Formats: sequence, structure tokens, C-alpha cells
Amino acid sequence: MSLLVNQVTKEYPTRGPEPLVVLRGVNLQLQRGEAAAIMGPSGSGKSTLLHILGTLDRPTSGRVTLDGTDPFTLKEGELAAFRNARIGFIFQDHHLLPQCSILENVLIPTLVNRSTQARETEAYARNLLERVGLGSRLEHRPAELSGGERQRVAVARALVLKPTLLLADEPTGNLDRTNAQAVGELLLQLHEQERNVLIVVTHSADIARLFPRRYEMNDGILEPLT
Ligand SMILES: Nc1ncnc2c1ncn2[C@@H]1O[C@H](COP(=O)(O)OP(=O)(O)OP(=O)(O)O)[C@@H](O)[C@H]1O
Ligand SMILES: [Mg+2]
Repeated sequence: MSLLVNQVTKEYPTRGPEPLVVLRGVNLQLQRGEAAAIMGPSGSGKSTLLHILGTLDRPTSGRVTLDGTDPFTLKEGELAAFRNARIGFIFQDHHLLPQCSILENVLIPTLVNRSTQARETEAYARNLLERVGLGSRLEHRPAELSGGERQRVAVARALVLKPTLLLADEPTGNLDRTNAQAVGELLLQLHEQERNVLIVVTHSADIARLFPRRYEMNDGILEPLT
């Protein structure tokens, strides 16, 4: 199993005697080639779960393994390398660097580990930008792109190191319906081509409907939607 999530809980301390319990024993198993959408009300714990799966935050209890490794047993430096190599992120805001070109933005994750073959990586970045429909915009700056186009650059950037796990937190939240649908379809199409594990948090039932597996988070409990 590529991604295993077993009884993950997350609590935050409060000023009172009781902690704030945000995740209450989340279980999830996904293989490469599987994609899931997570819906659920605001404050139910969706982003908290994605942060933990992305190793940006630690669970209070429970276990996560990605490609057989529990990232939370790694030392700080190893964890950063693991995250960079295995996990891609797409957020609601594109987080592109305004002073860099589209191509440079896609190459940013590859700058961390220079042992990767620079020429091959750049060819792959160009290939991804072609596949997201921006092959003719490589030298443009983010400000010269539409919101949907910027989000497609963010998709290419998240994929440039061929992650096992691709996490997207409301990737279409800032887009109009047409662009949202297009970015959702693009994410799934690239996911099928790359055979990664894709998890998308979305408030849009239209986007969720594109996904073969759907879950709902309610007050820290994740359940499959039928
Ligand atoms: N660092 C933190 N410290 C304390 N509480 C936190 C922290 N981060 C999140 N929370 C709380 O955890 C709960 C879940 O937050 P989370 O961001 O996961 O919700 P969400 O499902 O992503 O909501 P939305 O749909 O609005 O994005 C909220 O009550 C939030 O206030
Ligand atoms: Mg959220």
C-alpha cells in the first residue's frame, strides 16, 4: 500500500483542561493510481489531515506510512528530503514567485537537491507545462497569466519531482466554475498518467464527483461517501 493512515488523531492544547480534538482516529489506504476527494464542513479537520499527510505537522497519535516509511520517525533533515522527493502540494493560492518565469517556478522544487540531472529535469518541467497547456508561455511571469493558468503552473510545479503523493487543498477554491472544472479534470488526468496517489480537499460537489473515491470529514471523523 503506497499510503497508509492508521488511527491518526490530532489534538491541540487549549487554555482549559480539555484539548481541542481535531482528528479522531482517521483511517485511509490508497495505492498508486488511486485518487480521493475529501469534502466536509469548515473546521472539520480536512486541512489538518492534509498537513499531517504532507508531513508539515505531526499526528498526536496513530501512524502514517508512505512507500513503507513512517516519515515521523525520520530526523529533521531526512524528513525535509523525504517530503521534497515524495510529496507534492497544491494550495488554494498558487504561491508562485512573481519575479520568476513560469518555467523557473516549475523548477523551484528541483533546486533543493542539485544532484538531480539539471537538463533532464528542465526537459521534464517543459513537458509538464506542455501537458497543462502552457508550453507557449514558459518565459511569462505569473502576473501575465489568468488565475486558472497560474493554478495549472502550480500543478506542474507539484509534479516536477514525480511525487508518490500529491496533496491539493481546495485547489479550485479561487477559480470560477469553468476554470475549476478544467483544473480538476487536469489534476485527475495527470494523476492517471503519473500513477501517483492524489488527495484533493474540495468544497465543490462538482469537483468531488470527478473522483472515483469520495470521503467526508465531519468533526474529525473521515468516512467514505457512497
Ligand atoms: N495550529 C492550531 N492550533 C489550534 N487549533 C487549530 C490549529 N490549526 C487548526 N486548528 C483548529 O482545528 C480545526 C480544524 O481546522 P482545519 O483547518 O483542519 O479545518 P478545515 O476542515 O480545513 O476547514 P476549511 O474548510 O474552513 O478549510 C479548527 O477548529 C481549527 O480552528
Ligand atoms: Mg481547510
